[in-house]
Amino acid sequence: MSGGRDVYIVGNWKMNQSLEEIDSFLNQISTLNSNNHAWIAPQALHISKCLEKKPGFLKVGSQNCAHEDSGAFTGELSPKSLKEIGVHFTLIGHSERRSLYGEGDDLLYKKTLKALENNLYVIFCIGETLEEREAGKVEEVLSEQLSNGLRDIDSKNVLIAYEPVWAIGTGVTASPEQAGEAHKFIRNYIKENMKLDAQTTPILYGGSVKPENIKELLSNEDIDGGLVGGASLKADSYINLHKNA
Ligand code: PGA
Repeated sequence: MSGGRDVYIVGNWKMNQSLEEIDSFLNQISTLNSNNHAWIAPQALHISKCLEKKPGFLKVGSQNCAHEDSGAFTGELSPKSLKEIGVHFTLIGHSERRSLYGEGDDLLYKKTLKALENNLYVIFCIGETLEEREAGKVEEVLSEQLSNGLRDIDSKNVLIAYEPVWAIGTGVTASPEQAGEAHKFIRNYIKENMKLDAQTTPILYGGSVKPENIKELLSNEDIDGGLVGGASLKADSYINLHKNA
């Protein structure tokens, strides 16, 4: 744990992992002894298996959830059912959901409300594209995503993940300065414009986080953890993220 505060190491497995790989991951991490929060979001088909086999300390989440509890929403994931089977949290608004599946701010707001209503923790993802960064629009994009997607929400169950789109899966991590600047902006923006508690809302960084760079990222007081894709898939790497955090 960095500096005595709560630190979150969240694995976003995306559409990866076989059943065999999951067994091996869960066996290997069973002895992990970490002061950090240990969360993983497997693909939906594997959530139940992870819940059955996981060690007690590990929290399991979903990568997405619907904006309604039930009804004619073919292919969707009910937040009520997620809660019922023991899911702890859900990602909302990951850049892949925004860009590949056209999820916009209004829908993401509704999803967040429903997830919170069902007592799920929400990791609300925001971040700018390279084009937007180069056009000097980072603050504009982040403030819009926050104020549209989270609007009037006042909840202790919201975490924010800042994931610059150009750093996701590319091997290019935002420099600690770039990440630190964005996180500071987000915290100030929350303080001045939103109902969330700026002091206690965890703000995670995502985008090519690895065991080798997590310590430096977390040395920034506004970075409360990592949302980690590629480097969370193998148990030894996930364990090292915890060790180095
Ligand atoms: P990455 O993915 O760590 O593989 O860059 C992060 C994410 O998309 O959440």
